[in-house]
Amino acid sequence: MSPDLPWWHETVVYQVYPRSFADTDGDGIGDLPGVRSRLRYLADLGVDAIWLSPFYPSPLADGGYDVSDYFGVDPLLGTLADFDGLVADAAAHRIRVIVDLVPNHCSADHPFFRQALAAAPGSSQRERFLFRDGRGPDGAWPPNNWQSTFGGPAWTRITEPDGTPGQWYLHLFDPGQPDWNWRNPEIPAYFEKVIRFWLDRGAAGLRVDVAHGLFKDPELADTADPAPSHARSGYYHQPELHELYKSWRGILDSYPADVFPGRRTAIGEVWYDTIDVLGDYVTGDALPQVFNFEFLTTGWDSGALRAAIAASVGMTAASGSPWVLGNHDVPRPVTRYGLTSRPGAGAARQLTPDTTADLCAGSRRARAAALLLLALPGSVCVYQGEELGLPEVLDLPPEVRADPAFRRSGERQLGRDGCRVPLPWSGAAPPYGFSPAAGDAQARTWLPQPTDWQHYTVESQQRDPDSFLGLYRAALRLRREHPGLVSGSMTWLDGPPGMLSFSREPGFAFAANLGTAPAPLPSHDRVLLASGPVEDGRLPPDTAAWLETRPPAQ
Ligand code: GLC
Repeated sequence: MSPDLPWWHETVVYQVYPRSFADTDGDGIGDLPGVRSRLRYLADLGVDAIWLSPFYPSPLADGGYDVSDYFGVDPLLGTLADFDGLVADAAAHRIRVIVDLVPNHCSADHPFFRQALAAAPGSSQRERFLFRDGRGPDGAWPPNNWQSTFGGPAWTRITEPDGTPGQWYLHLFDPGQPDWNWRNPEIPAYFEKVIRFWLDRGAAGLRVDVAHGLFKDPELADTADPAPSHARSGYYHQPELHELYKSWRGILDSYPADVFPGRRTAIGEVWYDTIDVLGDYVTGDALPQVFNFEFLTTGWDSGALRAAIAASVGMTAASGSPWVLGNHDVPRPVTRYGLTSRPGAGAARQLTPDTTADLCAGSRRARAAALLLLALPGSVCVYQGEELGLPEVLDLPPEVRADPAFRRSGERQLGRDGCRVPLPWSGAAPPYGFSPAAGDAQARTWLPQPTDWQHYTVESQQRDPDSFLGLYRAALRLRREHPGLVSGSMTWLDGPPGMLSFSREPGFAFAANLGTAPAPLPSHDRVLLASGPVEDGRLPPDTAAWLETRPPAQ
């Protein structure tokens, strides 16, 4: 990597969902000391930074993305001192810590929202949120036709302090997540304090939740398509975002190098209908990075993947934006790529109760996809458990499911709990070392772990170079060492149908066979790493290889 580029180019960010990573106090819920206790594992894996999903105090209407105190740590997860200790210990392992900033909405338990409920319509307290009178007789209909991402109207009617049916407030997500009014100057000022608070405590950057949201059409007019798509609309991709992110960039850039050299970053979670929208967020000194979600929306198809990569690799490499194979919002790649109940394997964001998957095929493809993603220019984000090849847990009982998308969809969508099941670390039965407690462990982890996960544990994989973990460790090491992977520009190579291949000079080539028959590898000196067995220079279906094409320059 060129020394002039910011540190976040070509890095590996590891997403920690704290409630499901590691539990130290035995309550079945992961915590910050748990993350701290597993830093050696993360350093051995070869990650450069961790992004912590929200650990703030929260009533958990949406897994912690409903924040009731932006300046604290949920007591179930630890204390501010634990956060400080984590940042310090992570630095000792050369790992940066990125915190999740949730600026589109807060929790209905946030003191400002409680004050707004207690205050009168039109008051300054209500002006922090988007309260409106209803339409129709007695204001009984929502102010506009917008729908919540989790199903149902994006508006909830309140009861006024005098007991009468009152105004409505906007929530693009759960009713427990009221949207802030970003056109009220108090809100940007408040979030500036939040940002500085975490940067002052040593955060290397921010992951910005729903970064395409925040500002809403001032008229709050009906939309032609009320169901939330990710196209530009009255609630997404409003033009004011650019100035806001420029001001945040100014804050980030004003922070001096701390323990680590270089500036602080922010990675926007920007969902889009067409990827060219992302360019607006990372150009003109706005957000440093955005997630590249192309792998989440493109199936296991060589033509479609090549087109998706070709259309986005320029923006991604130029900004050092991370490629993403999975996160806490989408089905695990092993299951996604193995779906048998629905065509278009690999592209499904929502699973239904009748979902079935072929985990053998899914695992082969997810391994090949990981090598593809890790060979591309740009940084990557690995979601916890991806490196273990964990499948989505499809059979969680309805009563333990916590994702509001499950109930608000009338249980027609399984929701996202299946990718949030606590990690298996060691042992042959739940809680697989996740919690220290023995005994009635199955009932203890906040979501139950499957009883057949003994082969997925870190302990059972760490000595096996052919395991998922072995593959990730080897790939992450080579990514740091091979000059072609560190900084080589990318050139597509021609190959037989179904083959996806490119070179990165000096000395590196990638090939993946997405077809149904073995295919010859591109010319090479040596196979550096492969996601499955490679024989006689032929790549079996659903397999990828990293190739040395000539000795790297000294
Ligand atoms: C983001 C988060 C997701 C959350 C939503 C609302 O998309 O990643 O988990 O439900 O925002 O905060």
